[in-house]
Amino acid sequence: MKLEIMQLEQLPVHTGRVIQVFGHEIALFRLGNGKIRAVENRCPHKGGPLAEGIVSGDYVFCPLHDWKICLADGNVQSPDTGCVKTFQTEIEENRIYIMIEPQEQGERRESLVPEQGLVNQK
Ligand code: FES
Repeated sequence: MKLEIMQLEQLPVHTGRVIQVFGHEIALFRLGNGKIRAVENRCPHKGGPLAEGIVSGDYVFCPLHDWKICLADGNVQSPDTGCVKTFQTEIEENRIYIMIEPQEQGERRESLVPEQGLVNQK
């Protein structure tokens, strides 16, 4: 599904922002070329907060140990290996949208929320 996140001007170029969508913590970036990238805000190495990383071109450098991660496909660049989840985004009339499927919400909650917490979830 397509969810509106924020106005384009609320996201400065090269400055990561963290948003919460369906239980995912997502790092959002606006690149120098105007594109918006969205990736899970968790480095595949040791969980570094990618939103606080340095952005260069289509890459972010993790703030903890400087792994280089492609924001387009989520792939960690050599010599390191791994992948971070990416989310498709769109810009329409100066608003940023993210594509995220509702079933991902269920998967995430089942894996992270304690059982008694699920009873009270809406
Ligand atoms: S946690 Fe990101 S490089 Fe180590």
